[in-house]
Amino acid sequence: MIPAEDLQCLKVLAVRGGCRGPIFVSTQSIGEMLGISQQTASRRLKSLESAGLITRNLAADGQHVTVTKAGEEVLIREYQEYCRIFSEGGENHYLLSGSVVSGIGEGKYYMSLGPYKEQFTAALGFEPYPGTLNIRLVPSSLAIRKKIDALDWTRIKGFSTDGRTFGDARCIPCRIGTIKCGIVVPGRTHYPDDLLEVIAPVALRRRLGVEDNDSINVEVGP
Ligand code: CDP
Repeated sequence: MIPAEDLQCLKVLAVRGGCRGPIFVSTQSIGEMLGISQQTASRRLKSLESAGLITRNLAADGQHVTVTKAGEEVLIREYQEYCRIFSEGGENHYLLSGSVVSGIGEGKYYMSLGPYKEQFTAALGFEPYPGTLNIRLVPSSLAIRKKIDALDWTRIKGFSTDGRTFGDARCIPCRIGTIKCGIVVPGRTHYPDDLLEVIAPVALRRRLGVEDNDSINVEVGP
């Protein structure tokens, strides 16, 4: 846990764009934004730096500050808690955060197979775009992902065709923004728990304008 005052300071740096690259700040401007003295602002920045949540380069009249991945993680956790407070589903609402990654193009093949396509359509209420959007979850989402495992998934039955056998899978509805999607988990025993495969009625990369490494949030719940 980081001290609440440091979190406030981290948030201000992120609001000013510190997650996207170095931003120039002075302890005076940070102090003004937080309603604290310049000296206190300076202590906060030092504390954030020693906790590995920001990196700094001192300049003559200020400093260039970047929020690190670890810092971003802290803010994402905070964001997830606000989402739980304000979402209609309350405790039954789950937010997963991650970044878009590429797979090996298998999703397209599986999602084009009739028996899978029909079952996903029946389970989720839309005909899936042929492919799965792969999302690498941030570490703080792993516990939430585990909780989602305990919810009510729809079983997708495997089948055989042309002498090949296709395994079971399971799916559960989810949302990305306002788009109704579904999380799909293949029945394989060792499926990485930090990887999410999402299907949707539309091409998500195009619709959302996302590419590899871009951040993305997936909501599960009412
Ligand atoms: O295995 P990989 O994720 O690379 O590919 P795929 O599952 O065969 O999907 C083909 C492409 O469509 C990938 O770039 C997916 O990220 C993308 N996709 C998408 O934009 N929207 C979807 N609803 C499903 C897949």
